[in-house]
Amino acid sequence: MTVVTDNPKNEVIECACDQQKPAIDLQDRRWKLVNLTMKKHNYSPKALIETLHVIQDSFGYIDMDAMRYVAQQLRVPVSKVFGVVTFYHGFTCKPTGEHTLILCTGTACYVKGNDKMVEYMKQKHNLDPNQTTSDNKLSFMTARCVGACGLAPVMILDGQIVGKLGVEDMQAKIEEWLNHANQ
Ligand code: FES
Repeated sequence: MTVVTDNPKNEVIECACDQQKPAIDLQDRRWKLVNLTMKKHNYSPKALIETLHVIQDSFGYIDMDAMRYVAQQLRVPVSKVFGVVTFYHGFTCKPTGEHTLILCTGTACYVKGNDKMVEYMKQKHNLDPNQTTSDNKLSFMTARCVGACGLAPVMILDGQIVGKLGVEDMQAKIEEWLNHANQ
């Protein structure tokens, strides 16, 4: 992170955390989408906002590791990425719930009936996309195509991509989370 100090020369000091290696799983299809976006723009710093949108849409939030990774790839200071993420309302740094269910709302997943899942979350848990239960146990988010269309309908359960699941599977997973939280 770039830190401007109160020194007579107005030196800009690069913080060591800019150099930290971010924990990114490059085999994750979502990161492949992010990398494709940056590559398409030749890793230009101008790709920053679009890249952040892809991360937000694919993961549901943009954490510090993601910010560091993008900063390194696009050769911009982490402080700049952090500033953009925290300035725009469309970006969030983390899900607020203890557990996060992200539902892909891309075309292939829609065709496979993910609208029933959106409806289930509304009826059963009173959650619209990007909302968290009042006890902070469960965040429900949506993402655009996460690059796993062959597994449609796809959801991401606490960061893990799973596919070909129905409403009953979703229900079982949520109950497991909520019951475990109550123990
Ligand atoms: S549309 Fe859902 S993974 Fe592609």
